[in-house]
Amino acid sequence: MKNNPLPRLDDDAELRKRLLPFCRLQRGEIWNDPKGRHRIGCNDAADSEQIQNLVADARPTLAIHDPPYNLVAFDLRSIDEFIGWCRKWVRITTEVTASDASLYVWLGADQNDGFQPLPDFMLMMRDEPYKSRSFITMRNQRGYGTQKNWMAVRQELLYYTKGNPVFNVDAEYTDIPKILRGYYKEVNGRRTENFERSKSDNIRAGNVWVDIQQVFYRMDENVSGCYAQKPLKCIERIIAASSNPGDVVIDFFAHSGTTLIAAEKLDRRCITTDIDPIYAEICIRRLERFRKSGHEGWQNGHPFESEIPSFTESAEDTSHDQAAVVPQKLLF
Ligand SMILES: C[S@@+](CC[C@H](N)C(=O)[O-])C[C@H]1O[C@@H](n2cnc3c(N)ncnc32)[C@H](O)[C@@H]1O
Repeated sequence: MKNNPLPRLDDDAELRKRLLPFCRLQRGEIWNDPKGRHRIGCNDAADSEQIQNLVADARPTLAIHDPPYNLVAFDLRSIDEFIGWCRKWVRITTEVTASDASLYVWLGADQNDGFQPLPDFMLMMRDEPYKSRSFITMRNQRGYGTQKNWMAVRQELLYYTKGNPVFNVDAEYTDIPKILRGYYKEVNGRRTENFERSKSDNIRAGNVWVDIQQVFYRMDENVSGCYAQKPLKCIERIIAASSNPGDVVIDFFAHSGTTLIAAEKLDRRCITTDIDPIYAEICIRRLERFRKSGHEGWQNGHPFESEIPSFTESAEDTSHDQAAVVPQKLLF
């Protein structure tokens, strides 16, 4: 089948102009799921009134936020300005969530700039009513770097809690077993290898996740046009570990709607929003498509293919080797 992706759309003014008329939401508006489970907004994460209106009387027990990381690839703000902005949406999260709730935040650490914004974000969080719980690293398959530095293949994920929310340890068991053999130990007088000693055939993921495939265009879950899509598997892991079926999960930086689809798959309710009407529309379409066909994304096509069948010219360059062209941007 012909690969027909949507080019990266956040910085293509012409393309955005073509897509906006097909977007159901404008800033401040909310899409209510006809099945009554989820809510999708087009809101600014740092606007307390808009977010309160979106969350309304729901009491989310889990927040998964993946903000833009303030790296050179985006509109660079001063670190103080960026952290001040983060403080706003963290406080809004605190206000709208249940007293027992978990907060996960994906963040970048720019090795060319004091590893920002990660360290200042961590410091900022010390003033907020959360307990730090884990510092998770997810390994990417593709990376960026030069011959003069270690290739950057990591994504950082901070896990915090307030009150006493659930942690379902079963979610920690992975389907990819140990990557290294050969750790021997004497058990009841017998020498055992580490495979034998695990609780099951699987191993706990721990806080370094090496078993998650980064999304690329050949995967069913791929949403072309979305430059920062997280794999469903990592969001499903978070949701399974830190919520129960029926719980409400929030995500203020929806983008391709990964948290929404993971919540749908795992019988949670999701309230999510993106400041950009095009991403809010993509989320609605991704959910509708998933419900209709079981597909988690558009492997060879794109979310607007019924209105704009082909973007072939610009697609050529961006679909196969984005890592080489815009390496940093892919890591968000
Ligand atoms: C890193 S992406 C999130 C990726 C998402 N986790 C996924 O898997 O698709 C960040 C998103 O935040 C959105 N965004 C940026 N500033 C925002 C704001 N102030 N409020 C809400 N969304 C914002 C961007 O439009 C972008 O879609």
